[in-house]
Amino acid sequence: MKICMIGAGYVGLVSGACFADLGNTVLCVDKDQNKINKLKKNIIPIFEPGLKEIVYKNYHSGRLKFTTDLKLAVTNSDIIFICVGTPTLKNKKSADLTYVYKVSSDISRYINKFKIIVTKSTVPIFTGDKIEKIISKRNNKKLFEVVSNPEFLREGEAIRDFRFPDRIVIGTSNSNVTKKLKNLYDPLIKKGATFFATNRRSAELIKYSANAFLATKISFINEIANLCEKINVNVEDVSIGMGLDKRIGSRFLRAGPAYGGSCFPKDTKALTVSADYFKTNLSIVKSVIKSNQKRKLILIERVKKILSYKIKKKKISFLGVTFKPNTDDMRESSSLVMIPYLSKNGAMIRYYDPSGEKNIFSKLKNTIFCKNITEACKNTDLLIIHTEWDEFKAIDFSKLSKKKKIIIYDLRNLYSKKLMEMKGFKYFSIGR
Ligand SMILES: NC(=O)c1ccc[n+]([C@@H]2O[C@H](COP(=O)([O-])OP(=O)(O)OC[C@H]3O[C@@H](n4cnc5c(N)ncnc54)[C@H](O)[C@@H]3O)[C@@H](O)[C@H]2O)c1
Repeated sequence: MKICMIGAGYVGLVSGACFADLGNTVLCVDKDQNKINKLKKNIIPIFEPGLKEIVYKNYHSGRLKFTTDLKLAVTNSDIIFICVGTPTLKNKKSADLTYVYKVSSDISRYINKFKIIVTKSTVPIFTGDKIEKIISKRNNKKLFEVVSNPEFLREGEAIRDFRFPDRIVIGTSNSNVTKKLKNLYDPLIKKGATFFATNRRSAELIKYSANAFLATKISFINEIANLCEKINVNVEDVSIGMGLDKRIGSRFLRAGPAYGGSCFPKDTKALTVSADYFKTNLSIVKSVIKSNQKRKLILIERVKKILSYKIKKKKISFLGVTFKPNTDDMRESSSLVMIPYLSKNGAMIRYYDPSGEKNIFSKLKNTIFCKNITEACKNTDLLIIHTEWDEFKAIDFSKLSKKKKIIIYDLRNLYSKKLMEMKGFKYFSIGR
C-alpha cells in the first residue's frame, strides 16, 4: 500500500519505518528540513534501539523515503497518517492542537482522489470531527474519511511494540475503510494482535483512558510505597501479591519516581480538561496528577533526610536522568525537579546517562556530566540510581569508592536490600 506519515518524530518515524518493513511504500514527511536531511544520511534524530537498522534497510530498498514536500506525499498516498505532536498548551492543561489542524488544512489542498486520513497523534475526543470539518471546506466528503488509530507504542520499546502490539484500535463508521486498514495491519494481526474496530470518538477516548489508567496504577503503587516505608513492609511483596490477581495484573505496579515522558503527564491533564468541558469531574485522574507532582518533592525530602538535612557541599551522583531507560527523552523526568533543587541548595552534582549529556542541566551550578559510572561516582556522598538502564543493574559498588562506603538511594529497587546491607552499604530504596 502507498502510505505517508506526516511528522517524522517518535511515532511517525518508527511506524513509518515498520510499515515499510512490512512491504508498504512509505513517505515520511516533516517540516523540519534538518531532520529530513539527517534521515536521508541515515542519521537517526532520536534514541530508539533497533530503529537505525530498519530505517537503513528500507531506505536503501526504496520502500521508505523522506521529504518535506507535503503535496508530493499526499497526492502519492492512499492512506495518510497524521503523527504530529500534541503537547500541553503553554500555561494551560489542554492539548495544543495547532499542529494537527495546520496539517489537516494543508492536506485538504492536495486531495486528488479518495484518501484515508488517519490520526495517530493522541487527540481529545471530537478532534476527528473537527479535522473532518476542516478538510470538507475544500473537498466533497465522499473524497475522504477521517479515522482515529491511536498509537500505543512506548519509547525505548517502540519497534517491538509496533511489531507485537496487544491491540490495534480503528475508529471509523465506514466499513470499507475498516477493511482497508485491517488489511494494512494484517501481518501484525496474524502474529496475534487483536483488531478492535469502533467508532471514531470511542477510539480517541480509548487512548486517553488507557494512559490515565496506567498513570493511576503507577501513582497508586507509589503512594502504597510511602505507607510501606512507614510500617516496615516491602512494597514489592505487596505488588506481587496484588498483581497475581488477574483482574489487576502485575505490570505498572512497580514503585519508583514520578511517571514522566511525553505522554502520561500531558494526556492525563488533557483528559481532565475535555471532561470538564462536558461538565464531568474526573476527580480520580485529577488527584493522580497532583499525586505525581508531589512524588518528586517526596523523593527530594527523602534525599534530604538521608543526608541528615545537610545538602550544602555534598557530592551527589545521579545514575540515569531520563524518565525511563532506552530513550533520551527527558520530558517530565523526576530528575528535572530533583537535580535543580539539589544544585540550588549547594550540592555538587555529577551525573551519567547512557543517552548522553543534557543541555537542560548545563546552566546549573556545580552540575557536571560524566562519561561513565566510575567518573560520576568519584568521592560521592550519595549515589542516586534514578533510571533503570541495564548497565546500572550489576554495579560492583565496592570498586566505586575504596575510601568510604557509599550511601545509595535506589529509586528503582534494582538491588536486594538484604544483600546490600550484608555487604555493609547504607542502602535506601523505595517502599522497602
Ligand atoms: N512518543 C511516544 O511515545 C508516543 C506514543 C504514543 C502516542 N504518541 C502521540 O503521537 C503524537 C506524536 O508524538 P511524537 O512523540 O512522535 O512527537 P515528536 O515531537 O517526536 O514528532 C512530531 C513531528 O511532527 C513534525 N511536524 C509538526 N508539524 C508538522 C507539519 N505541519 N508538517 C510536517 N511535520 C510536522 C515535527 O517537526 C516533529 O518532527 C503525539 O500526539 C503523542 O502524544 C506519542
